Amino acid sequence: MTQQPQAKYRHDYRAPDYTITDIELTFELDAGQTRVTAVSQVQRQGEEGAVLRLDGEDLTLVSLDIDGQPWPDYQLESGALVVSNLPARFTLTIVNDIHPAQNTALEGLYQSGEALCTQCEAEGFRHITWYLDRPDVLARFSTKIIADKQSYPFMLSNGNRMGQGELEGGRHWVQWQDPFPKPCYLFALVAGDFDVLRDTFKTRSGRDVALELYVDRGNLDRADWAMESLKNSMKWDEQRFGLEYDLDIYMIVAVDFFNMGAMENKGLNIFNSKYVLARAETATDKDYLNIERVIGHEYFHNWTGNRVTCRDWFQLSLKEGLTVFRDQEFSSDLGSRAVNRISNVRTMRAMQFAEDASPMSHPIRPDKVIEMNNFYTLTVYEKGAEVIRMMHTLLGEAAFQKGMQLYFERHDGSAATCDDFVQAMEDASNVDLSHFRRWYCQSGTPVLSVQDDYDPATERYTLTISQQTPPTAEQAEKLPLHIPFDIELYDNEGKVIPLQYQGHPIHHVLNVTQEKQTFVFDNVWFQPVPSLLREFSAPVKLEYKWSDQQLTFLMRHARNDFSRWDAAQSLLSTYIKLNVARQQAAQPLSLPLHVVDAFRAVLLDESIDPALAAEILTLPSQNEIAELFPVIDPGAIAAVHEALTRALAVELADECLAVYHAMKVDTYRIDHSDIGKRALRNTCLHFLAFGDPDFADKLVSAQYHQADNMTDALAALSAAVSAQLPCHASLMAEYDEKWHQDGLVMDKWFILQATSPADNVLEKVRGLLRHRSFSMSNPNRIRSLIGAFTSANPAAFHAADGSGYAFLTEMLTELNSRNPQVASRLIEPLIRLKRYDASRQALMRQALETLKGLDNLSGDLFEKITKALG
Ligand code: ALA
Ligand code: ZN
Repeated sequence: MTQQPQAKYRHDYRAPDYTITDIELTFELDAGQTRVTAVSQVQRQGEEGAVLRLDGEDLTLVSLDIDGQPWPDYQLESGALVVSNLPARFTLTIVNDIHPAQNTALEGLYQSGEALCTQCEAEGFRHITWYLDRPDVLARFSTKIIADKQSYPFMLSNGNRMGQGELEGGRHWVQWQDPFPKPCYLFALVAGDFDVLRDTFKTRSGRDVALELYVDRGNLDRADWAMESLKNSMKWDEQRFGLEYDLDIYMIVAVDFFNMGAMENKGLNIFNSKYVLARAETATDKDYLNIERVIGHEYFHNWTGNRVTCRDWFQLSLKEGLTVFRDQEFSSDLGSRAVNRISNVRTMRAMQFAEDASPMSHPIRPDKVIEMNNFYTLTVYEKGAEVIRMMHTLLGEAAFQKGMQLYFERHDGSAATCDDFVQAMEDASNVDLSHFRRWYCQSGTPVLSVQDDYDPATERYTLTISQQTPPTAEQAEKLPLHIPFDIELYDNEGKVIPLQYQGHPIHHVLNVTQEKQTFVFDNVWFQPVPSLLREFSAPVKLEYKWSDQQLTFLMRHARNDFSRWDAAQSLLSTYIKLNVARQQAAQPLSLPLHVVDAFRAVLLDESIDPALAAEILTLPSQNEIAELFPVIDPGAIAAVHEALTRALAVELADECLAVYHAMKVDTYRIDHSDIGKRALRNTCLHFLAFGDPDFADKLVSAQYHQADNMTDALAALSAAVSAQLPCHASLMAEYDEKWHQDGLVMDKWFILQATSPADNVLEKVRGLLRHRSFSMSNPNRIRSLIGAFTSANPAAFHAADGSGYAFLTEMLTELNSRNPQVASRLIEPLIRLKRYDASRQALMRQALETLKGLDNLSGDLFEKITKALG
């Protein structure tokens, strides 16, 4: 590395010396070399004599004019163009060249297949032209695109199409104008040949919005669900948040090469095709639900992100935490609230808690950043959404919506901060959020320890709650937080005991604010069973000495589906921890009968929602289990995970088979009740695969061959691979033969290969780097093969001989220069070395040192590696 990347600090924020009110862009498009002309109206807002420092990377300057005259007073620096001796207002014209086909980092303007497209968040626009590439500079964009008509029949940008025409030499042009001022990270351009699905949406005020969905030629039969989801999103945002769309056209383009999930560019969303394309034969139920969620997410950004944007990138959670909260509510209102909550909580516990415990830990509003791309994290997104959810819990829906309205009244059309949001919530509700704001500054996972005491003589029940947040990598001192703690008490028949004290009712959400606090309830007529942290009312770890009886009771009687699942999780955790200890001491593993019976009861319960039953019967993943331990033993965890699966499979074989047959759905429809039945049926199939091998082999193979949809086919394939049934190799070969030309469908196959429990999995993965469907330039393929191996096959990745680490080092060495963003996501499991034993730590450290020595180490990897080694 030539120059050490520099950190930026949140506290150093300064308004820019100049702003840009309007920009006219002209693109003379060509994959090899594109000429960009940018004509900007610039106004000074700082002191006279201030220089104009424009951001730019990998650009070739052709000319620079001020008010139509060549301007000699500029200097090119690394990453910047500094212009001086400027008047207070002027027209800046910059002409520069860029090289889309060489852009393998997929940031700025790049080539995806035959198309050209952009990704500008967070700091991609500086790869297009020199500009004030920061979110607090809001300009009106107009964009003219000129290109060869045959290669690029469609040319799209933000806003409304204002004109188009033909040019000589087979070229054509189109002019776009976006009436809404926006930061440059929301700029987008797409050119290519597509199939288009068109529809319209009538807003509640009666305006017609044209909806256009662009997909690769031949993919029109996979576009309907995304369009349906878009219309549902538009309707839902009107109904639940009172928010209406504001342009006459909304476009979505699906591209195959994309670093992220999708991008909310104003009026022109660009999506990873994974979150658009679906038909029954190629996409699973989960894929369908993910498409609905991501389409919703990007649409909801139109208000929370675009109309009100972020002042600076430290405020990223202002738009992302809030928009994730909104997409979670959307999915919950349309589907199963409990299943959505369970899935969000699994992500928090398995992945966000792990991030808190890692060298990259940061508050939802980070204080120090080297590479902004490294902060599109579970903490900013998912924990950010939990923080919004806590405010929703504290205020209630009505006051929360009042707060949203006030937020838009105050900040529409501008760049705001997280504090602005909390202030609006506080002002609209009169709920004191001063202490609550600490969630924005403090990183780490609080541990809530609960003790209870019941006195039958006085009929008093006391909860003593202590909170403590362990130090994190970047922040040693922790203070108590304002934690909404949702509880319920049950008597022995499962009846709810009202919460009261001295004649006053007490709200079921307790305000835990101190290091240690006691809550007393009277008129408690019976030793109660408490249901604690209902709905996961705060992103914390709960410690309470549960008895098995309490947990099995809650599995049956809790009124709330999430609590039933959570009780099952706690029950399993107890026996997972116990068995990991036994495995480490070379003792036999076991699961007591009463635990098995609690799960049997779920299978026998005819009134339970099948979707919930499926969640209860799904063991925590190996990554979720890892978070139960300060020092992770991946081998022991994998062994226990398999042993418990086998134990349940043997004990519950008859019930699983009965439910397997009972849950059969005849025709495939995307319908929440059918999705639930398929989920439960396939959960049963998974257990059955670990039962009698001959029977299992026939059953699984039959389901694979009879399936008319990907959900059932993939469930069978996955069961075959997990249980290493005799049929697994031939089924995998069949799938490969059938789908090898379809990258998205093959991603599922690569994931199964990479997460296989087979001994030679790494050898297999290495071989698949040369598979006909694999490509080191496609982020989806990389994540499915390499990413799945390193992050979802912990036992193999953490092999004691260090072979997994050596493999990742090789892959990162290549990806570091090719695509730093993808590399930086992949390195995560390697930087978490402190969670492993000394010998693994030494091997991981060695791998990190090797990477640190790379000549051209990217800022993305530099930031993570130095933190890990520090
Ligand atoms: N802003 C993009 C999203 O999360 C990356 O939607
Ligand atoms: Zn987002």
